[in-house]
Amino acid sequence: MSANTLRGLAAKKGLLVGSAFSYDAFRKDPLYGEVLAREFNCLVAENEMKLDVLQRVREQFDFGPAEAMMAFARQHDMKVRAVPLVWHDALPEWARDKTFPRQEALDILREHIFTVMRHFRGRVFAWDVLNEGLSDKGPGLREEGPWYHSIGPAYVERVYHWAHEADPQALLFYNDYGMDGMSEKADRCYQWVKALLARGVPIHGIGLQYHVQVDKHPTPTEVTQNIRRFNDLGLTVHITELDVWLPKNAAEADFRLQAAVYRGVFEAALAAPKCPAIVLWGFTDRYSWVPGISNGTYDRALIFDRDYRPKPAYEAIASVLR
Ligand code: XIL
Repeated sequence: MSANTLRGLAAKKGLLVGSAFSYDAFRKDPLYGEVLAREFNCLVAENEMKLDVLQRVREQFDFGPAEAMMAFARQHDMKVRAVPLVWHDALPEWARDKTFPRQEALDILREHIFTVMRHFRGRVFAWDVLNEGLSDKGPGLREEGPWYHSIGPAYVERVYHWAHEADPQALLFYNDYGMDGMSEKADRCYQWVKALLARGVPIHGIGLQYHVQVDKHPTPTEVTQNIRRFNDLGLTVHITELDVWLPKNAAEADFRLQAAVYRGVFEAALAAPKCPAIVLWGFTDRYSWVPGISNGTYDRALIFDRDYRPKPAYEAIASVLR
């Protein structure tokens, strides 16, 4: 392992530096796997372990794409974290816009969690059990999606207890966006998780997604402060989906600003008591969800350009790790 790659540098600091993995890109583009294995020591399936892929057909589990990633991870000595077991999005057609009888919904979630976690037991060290469960509009849980509709707020505690039973060794996370710094949502998450812990719900970590725009992001100081307060509850923190969006017609100066944002995230995480993993939501601008989700208004959010050339952001991260 070269000491000059991100993973070589990160290893010396005991840090996991990860990327989302796209099976499509991996299959069609040999350079993709080459750079991924060279630079990163942790992987997350970008879509291959979501409900709509794993159970596109109800109760017929398809682990094919996920297993391709697992084989690659094993071959290159990379740790795997997984996102997400329970989410209001990425639903297969049989669950989309559905309200199930309460017991049926509980059975679906229970079976999904047990089947998937038992299948990957010992190979996935951290799971985002619930993704984006908090409301954006104010106190309480997000109400969209079949799980809340069918079960009500009680589904949250159930899924964590099942996950813990299915794989007692795995670290169980709550993952969300818009709570990377000391935001109002982060305050709500903190109070909510604190209450869940007090009731004995097995949650071990908080995932900060960290999708930000180059001109709209929290300061490193408040990010460290936010991570520290979760650490003080006994929780670990991972940064789980980092990308830094540039406006469509970004100029040279924007790439330097982007580099500074990436630098700040790594500095903030290293300054906190316990944030041992930073995962980017992809690594090359050739494959990124950003142009699609932003209708083309943002782009180039990652640390390699479309031709796999390292951008200033790559150098900024390397210099923090050096
Ligand atoms: C995104 C993927 O990157 C896209 O390819 C897919 O079309 C939609 O989902 N928060 C999450 C991730 O937790 O799972 C999402 O991933 C991005 C936002």
